[in-house]
Amino acid sequence: MSLTPIGEPRQKITVATLRDKKLQHQPITCLTAYDYASARLVDEAAIDIILVGDSLAQTMLGYENTLSVTVDEMLHHTRAVRRGVKHAFLVADMPYGSFHVTVDETIRNAARFVKEGGAEAVKMEGGEKRADLIRRVIDAEIPVAGHIGLTPQSVNVLGGYKVQGKTLGAIEQLMHDAVALDRAGVACIYLEGIPREVAAMITAEVETPTIGIGAGPECDGQVLVFHDILNLTFGPPAKFVRRYADAAALITDAVQAFRADVLSRQYPSDGESYHLPRETQQTLETVLERKQGVRR
Ligand code: KIV
Repeated sequence: MSLTPIGEPRQKITVATLRDKKLQHQPITCLTAYDYASARLVDEAAIDIILVGDSLAQTMLGYENTLSVTVDEMLHHTRAVRRGVKHAFLVADMPYGSFHVTVDETIRNAARFVKEGGAEAVKMEGGEKRADLIRRVIDAEIPVAGHIGLTPQSVNVLGGYKVQGKTLGAIEQLMHDAVALDRAGVACIYLEGIPREVAAMITAEVETPTIGIGAGPECDGQVLVFHDILNLTFGPPAKFVRRYADAAALITDAVQAFRADVLSRQYPSDGESYHLPRETQQTLETVLERKQGVRR
């Protein structure tokens, strides 16, 4: 297994790389990023796919769910992420409403993510019923990532964020969804919030790499939300989230320390201040002394 260590020269990740990884049983890594700084950190940590997820609606913009985020807002973040990514495969989420329209308008919106945002693929939620539309977007030379299972843009139809694929009928539909996306030629399929056993069946059935979130360890890859792994989401995490660091505590400590230093006049110190050149300082002192002499 060839796992590129962090810091080694890295290849550019493409759709073909993801397929190769599946064939060679090498796990695919994916994280979300929403701005230049997080994109640089994630890319430099050798993550394979960076997803500008519409979860930025909640994590970055404070919306209640993903439904209100617009194409322009997604593009703003995608452009910032693009500037920070060198190696990872860059996927941008098509927000709710941007592909629930005519085929022409969907392709126009998807093309904006490529032309204006620099994305290498767009992600569209939905399975069998979106397969023809997704094929048309791929025909327009835009790689597409599929997303099935707990699709957050369907929150009002699903009646909440509930694990999907728990009945035989639902499992059958998920299999149809995955196979339809596989046949449409998507670059990868995100499997969200489904039982491990179902994700394993789908992963074994399709040639397309599957990327799981709350879908168990048998998926070809795993994705988590950047803010979730860093405890920056201000709420109890979902069952599948593993917290790798407590950035909230780090940031709070730093902000409180800054405030205390300013209040106690310990910040800034002389070493953190700019100084006049010696000559200017001397001339200034002479001028000030003369002025004081005149006043006396
Ligand atoms: O928007 C997002 O972050 C996503 C991932 C959870 C797959 O769609």
